[in-house]
Amino acid sequence: MNTAIPTIVLGGTGYVAGELLRLIAGHPNFKLAGILSDSQPGEAVAKSFGHLAAVYPDTKFSSIEEIEQLVATLPRTAIFSAAPHGASAALIDRLLARAEAAGTRPSVVDISADYRFATNEAYAAVYKHDHGAPARLAQFTCALPEHLAASPTPHVGHPGCFSSAILLASVPLLKLGIAQPTLFVAGVTGSTGAGRKPTEGTHHPQRHSDLYAYNALAHRHAPEIAEVAKAVSGVDAHFAFVPHSGPFARGIHVTVQAQLAKPATSAELVEAFAKFYAHSPFVRVSAQAPRVKDVAGSNYARLSVATDGKVVAVMSVLDNLNKGAAGGAVQWMNRLMSLPETAGLTAPAAGWT
Ligand SMILES: NC(=O)c1ccc[n+]([C@@H]2O[C@H](COP(=O)([O-])OP(=O)(O)OC[C@H]3O[C@@H](n4cnc5c(N)ncnc54)[C@H](OP(=O)(O)O)[C@@H]3O)[C@@H](O)[C@H]2O)c1
Repeated sequence: MNTAIPTIVLGGTGYVAGELLRLIAGHPNFKLAGILSDSQPGEAVAKSFGHLAAVYPDTKFSSIEEIEQLVATLPRTAIFSAAPHGASAALIDRLLARAEAAGTRPSVVDISADYRFATNEAYAAVYKHDHGAPARLAQFTCALPEHLAASPTPHVGHPGCFSSAILLASVPLLKLGIAQPTLFVAGVTGSTGAGRKPTEGTHHPQRHSDLYAYNALAHRHAPEIAEVAKAVSGVDAHFAFVPHSGPFARGIHVTVQAQLAKPATSAELVEAFAKFYAHSPFVRVSAQAPRVKDVAGSNYARLSVATDGKVVAVMSVLDNLNKGAAGGAVQWMNRLMSLPETAGLTAPAAGWT
């Protein structure tokens, strides 16, 4: 019989929290113990997430005090934070402090941007305010599970959605010495990447049937990607990143281009990438251009590589809410809890969304 690990989700009514709940419902070892809602404690989860009513018919959102009580009384908990950056660090710090006082041992995976940089200085330079709990930074490691065999720290910061797609494409280029370390990145994200709160940029009449760039060469994720890429590849690379808003709800498509550092054919590069990810159960490499619909709704990522002899292009697709957030976080939590990395994550993409 499987042991149920009590699992806590922060970030209540948000899209990523909803995706976490969906994955936890199908996970063989994680059992939802509590979901924090800052704005709707006591309300039914099914009211915010109609698609989850069948698996959480009676579950209600909890208050921070109720979540603190769980963390203090349950000897071992899995905590996922899908709270906004800025709020997440202090929230996690509060729960960890409570656990330390009570002698309990939670493991945390933070999906916000709060534990991606190693120092307060690096964080403040991008986010223009101090980190919410700088003393905790040393307890978190930020990387993709595909690029780090085990976390050296008790807790993990998830690199995020665009970053996951870009890092999967870029780290082999850097680590295998395939490309020069200036990487030109064009990425397209679906509207769920912007979260639940409606904005002009996510309003359906504005967004559907359209495609446009935003924050060209000035997106806050570029320095995060560079820091994580350097930590796992040893190469100090520059990421020239132009993000785009795409006319679909779920998924990310990224193209990374760079000058070749040594001669190679497309077939050789596909083989090199396939070998690099041979032991990564969620990454598929092929010569065929990857498509968003092949991964949407799943924890799988697909990559393809091509070269004209001078430039290399890597195409990378994944689901922003799943592999790029909730699924990638569950993958890390599986490892932190010494479970099989693939537990609860092998459902294929829907194919038609
Ligand atoms: N969307 C994506 O594709 C994606 C991918 C990777 C990473 N992320 C990151 O994951 C996190 C969640 O993203 P999301 O898209 O789910 O955002 P979202 O839809 O805007 O949801 C965030 C939720 O956090 C809760 N919240 C707001 N203020 C809070 C506070 N001060 N303290 C605690 N909770 C608060 C709110 O729910 P309650 O009021 O119910 O608590 C809100 O619905 C963000 O940090 C985001 O950057 C998102």
